[in-house]
Amino acid sequence: MNQTYINELKKHIGEEVTLKGWLYNSRSSGKLVFLQLRDGTGIVQCVCFKPSNEGLFEQAKSLGQESSIVVRGSVKEDSRSAIGVEIDVTGLEVIQNAHDYPITPKEHGTEFLMDHRHLWIRSKKQHAVLRVRHTVIKAVRDFFDSNGFILADTPIFTPAACEGTTTLFEVDYFGDDKAYLTQSGQLYNEATAAAFGRSYAFGPTFRAEKSKTRRHLTEFWMVEPEMAYAHLDDVMNLGEALITFIVGRVLNDRDEDLKVLERDVTKLESIAAPFPRVHYDDAVKMLQEGFDKGEMENRFEWGGDFGAPDETYLSSQFGQPIFVHHFPAAIKAFYFERDKDRPELALGADLLAPEGYGEIIGGGERAFDLEFLEKQIEAHDLPKEAFDWYLDLRRFGGVPHGGFGMGIERCTAWMCGIEHIRETIPFPRMLYRLRP
Ligand code: 4AD
Ligand code: MG
Repeated sequence: MNQTYINELKKHIGEEVTLKGWLYNSRSSGKLVFLQLRDGTGIVQCVCFKPSNEGLFEQAKSLGQESSIVVRGSVKEDSRSAIGVEIDVTGLEVIQNAHDYPITPKEHGTEFLMDHRHLWIRSKKQHAVLRVRHTVIKAVRDFFDSNGFILADTPIFTPAACEGTTTLFEVDYFGDDKAYLTQSGQLYNEATAAAFGRSYAFGPTFRAEKSKTRRHLTEFWMVEPEMAYAHLDDVMNLGEALITFIVGRVLNDRDEDLKVLERDVTKLESIAAPFPRVHYDDAVKMLQEGFDKGEMENRFEWGGDFGAPDETYLSSQFGQPIFVHHFPAAIKAFYFERDKDRPELALGADLLAPEGYGEIIGGGERAFDLEFLEKQIEAHDLPKEAFDWYLDLRRFGGVPHGGFGMGIERCTAWMCGIEHIRETIPFPRMLYRLRP
């Protein structure tokens, strides 16, 4: 049996079609039953009229929410419908009549919905968020693929930390060796960039974050480009180009979903390069002025790492994503290149998204010098043996290079304008959530 998808119905006005899907909702009134059928591409109203077929009418009336059904009917233009059409039902096949579906149109608490995440993803809003995620990922891939980057994915089992030892997930690797789930593919990207010039990795990354915030997952997806012969400015230019490309794509391809999410799209439409670039010193001044004006609760001191309120305050001064660069090296990972004139500063840059979405990109220029890196590895208490291969990249054809990581979920949350990143991945992993 052939099948027509709901998002193609407008091309079939006046025709008889077969739709395969699930019952999203229904209601009856007198001689009519209205079935809201969803098939993953959209929702369409299907109307059963008692006098046309009494058996079919009774069967339609008996269906519970999320019953799986195949509907045959003719496509009628309908100006009141959001998708411009509705279906006059002529045939109905029930694959499974479902009863007592746990997620009803009434309000449910977040914990309940998270426990039923495997069903919740069928709901309109969740569906829209995950479609935006799809488009963010597609945009990311198209951007790098069409700009000369080679996809070279990096391992998930790794022998050592990339981003500090406090957030490592340890796994037993056949008893002898310890392995850790990767926090970032960066160190391997530095190898692939030396092989391909420009490369990127895209995959899941893991952080044993004990923080329970709206921005943290323990498993998240990150895209990480890396470029040989590149400096800090090149890294920021690339991040800016990527973000404007993603915003454009989402606005263009996901306007219906953004409507479902009631996203204020003017906020996204106004995103335009160049993004402000703020030196850490100046960011500190802005935060201190904010405190003096009574707009910040705590006084920020030079040398500290930004917390969520600091990031929100900084980006809210601009209405654009902003880069903060030249962080104190003491709060950054071991691999950063230093400022030649002020070696206490790392050549790193974070991109802070507007509207309180916080850091969505972190990256910078990598240390070039072999001896310096050896000292850094020691100073950070990292196991020397595990980094020997990495140091080869400084022994054999070392060049200035850099890149960044962008978190897919944080970016998607910003695009959607939703509160918490747990809804931007089909099955989130968080401090207190491993199920479903
Ligand atoms: O700033 P981070 O830790 O940078 C790195 O891992 C670099 N090694 C990347 C690189 O240069 N190749 O993480 C990069 C981004 C953050 O800006 C954020 O978007 C996301 O990854 N991220 C998280 N997203 C969700 N949950 C978490 N716990 C995250 N931690 C980082
Ligand atoms: Mg970071």
